[in-house]
Amino acid sequence: MRPDLVGVVTGAGSGLGRATAELLLEHGARVAGWDISGDGLNWLSDRESTVTSVVDVTDPAQVAAAADEVRSALGRVDFLVNSAGVFLLGSLADIEPAAVRRLFDINVTGTTLVTQALLPDLIAAMGAVVNLSSTVALRASASNAHYAASKAAVAQLTRCWALELAPHGVRVNAVAPGPTNTPLFATAGMDPAVTEAFLAQRAATIPLRRTGEPAEVARWITRFIDDEWVTGHVLPVDGGTSIA
Ligand SMILES: NC(=O)c1ccc[n+]([C@@H]2O[C@H](COP(=O)([O-])OP(=O)(O)OC[C@H]3O[C@@H](n4cnc5c(N)ncnc54)[C@H](O)[C@@H]3O)[C@@H](O)[C@H]2O)c1
Repeated sequence: MRPDLVGVVTGAGSGLGRATAELLLEHGARVAGWDISGDGLNWLSDRESTVTSVVDVTDPAQVAAAADEVRSALGRVDFLVNSAGVFLLGSLADIEPAAVRRLFDINVTGTTLVTQALLPDLIAAMGAVVNLSSTVALRASASNAHYAASKAAVAQLTRCWALELAPHGVRVNAVAPGPTNTPLFATAGMDPAVTEAFLAQRAATIPLRRTGEPAEVARWITRFIDDEWVTGHVLPVDGGTSIA
């Protein structure tokens, strides 16, 4: 990877965002980590070449202020990784309207607001956006329809933005992970026993017979930042789930 890259990772306080920020720092990039959780960002705040912002990605004013901080601290934005997101198990019969709105607000509107706020910088740098979709966006699942729909929206935003931004030299891709071992499920309010059973049941249906590790997904996210002739892809990184 080019060692002088500069950019933003949302959701950098945990899971895939954190693993991606760690890998980018290892490669010599300068990273702005954004997360709604200030505690989550502690690991990053005393590292060199970083700036951290506590931001709710659904709040346009907070996003605009964080974008200004990045401009003054780092000067440029070559990449944006939209990893902030939430999960929810829920059936059509039981899901609450507020839960549907929250899923779409964070996963879809949040991704939009952050990309929009950094768009002038990404255009100036002919940069790269990497979104986080999911394998459930590509293959139907009975237990989490609204989460899956929010991630399908992210996949289609990725393809549409890839076309919209190609004339500016900005590339837009997404990684669609299968079930990966992060705090995502605990954060969704699932108790540890339910999470363990859910992941074990999912692992049994994965052709490679195991769930993923954050670093395995982060490698493909960083690859999309580096590769200059790939745009509009939604890449499953899922042990073969999406083709089974
Ligand atoms: N872990 C998986 O199995 C999996 C699979 C497919 C897709 N994904 C997607 O990957 C992304 C990262 O998930 P993860 O597994 O790392 O989960 P995670 O819970 O470990 O990390 C998500 C991060 O997003 C932050 N966040 C949540 N709401 C926010 C908001 N409004 N503003 C700013 N930050 C906010 C959280 O504080 C957290 O640090 C999500 O978009 C998720 O949907 C995860």
